[in-house]
Amino acid sequence: MADIRQRKQDHIDLALQEAHQGQLGDQFDRLRFEPIAVPELHHDQIDLSVEFLGRICSAPIIIGAMTGGCDNGEIINRHLAEAAEECQIPMAVGSQRAALELALPQRIRQSAPNAVLLGNLGGTQLAQGGVDLAQAAVDSIDANALVIHLNPLQELAQPNGDRDWRGILRTIETCCQRLDVPLIVKEVGAGIGPTSAQRLIDIGVQWIEVAGRGGTNWASIEMARNPSTRDAQIMQPFADWGVYSIDLLPQLRALDADLNLIGSGGVRHGLDVARCLRLGAQMAALAQPFLAPAMQSSRAVVEKIDILKEQLRRTMLLTGSADLAALACAAIDSTQSQFNGKHT
Ligand SMILES: Cc1cc2nc3c(=O)[nH]c(=O)nc-3n(C[C@H](O)[C@H](O)[C@H](O)COP(=O)(O)O)c2cc1C
Repeated sequence: MADIRQRKQDHIDLALQEAHQGQLGDQFDRLRFEPIAVPELHHDQIDLSVEFLGRICSAPIIIGAMTGGCDNGEIINRHLAEAAEECQIPMAVGSQRAALELALPQRIRQSAPNAVLLGNLGGTQLAQGGVDLAQAAVDSIDANALVIHLNPLQELAQPNGDRDWRGILRTIETCCQRLDVPLIVKEVGAGIGPTSAQRLIDIGVQWIEVAGRGGTNWASIEMARNPSTRDAQIMQPFADWGVYSIDLLPQLRALDADLNLIGSGGVRHGLDVARCLRLGAQMAALAQPFLAPAMQSSRAVVEKIDILKEQLRRTMLLTGSADLAALACAAIDSTQSQFNGKHT
């Protein structure tokens, strides 16, 4: 248990350091909307609301999965949950593995009785624990959906990380059939590409969170924790492994028009949220940007959400989009041919 606590604390400390974040401008800034100088809209009437998992949320912004399982983690999660409740936006909890294994109390639902809460387990734990573990994760926080994170790169960089990735697809398929809430499958910063997405779609997955490269870099964070010089040499070429969400989202959208997509990995402001939606995502998730506010107070998280919403609203005014349906087909600068396909 002390080991898990220390690992989670290291993750928080290192995720806050710029050295383990992608470079600003690397990816999302490549998509430029066409500026609409005649928007014919009133700023105050722009509608950010969205239906997510059958519930109306005030904006298409998810608080991305972050840690539990250390002293700081409990406070961070409470602040995030209280803000999610106040702002009516969904919150994904961090991995519930430790809490379930050690039968620790999970009080997050008490802080967010009406919010959309997403549970969280790793793919390798799911393969071992099966649908019973998945249902326990859902029940323990009365989750509205369960997120399964797939993180082979992170595990390879971690001392004693999981190496056995067999049997995960079969367990995900069983969970899709038997779990009483939807399953969302995500990466943690390398991205889910079309080949994996097709395999997931084929076994019944309806929600994918892309979590591409360009934001929090988990190979870099794990290498900073890993004392082995041999591992450092082996992992060095993989320091920037993965594909940007901005490049993956259109590929996944083209794969299956009914697939529900969440854009994430390096989403840093409301304009990036708008870019994800324009590329076919229903929602966008941010993790690291909520970490520093969550260490302060729920008020600081509410203020952060308010700024993100205002950035999204301003993007919508500047693109002449009265609501999210209009934003999904907003004009893109015509010189950016790679992004110009329309999706419906
Ligand atoms: C401190 C921290 C802890 C995280 N823990 C988890 C986790 O337990 N489960 C998970 O699915 N993702 C976890 N993530 C990954 C994020 O949900 C996200 O996919 C990734 O950091 C990329 O998004 P970002 O660039 O907005 O941070 C964590 C992220 C951070 C910053």
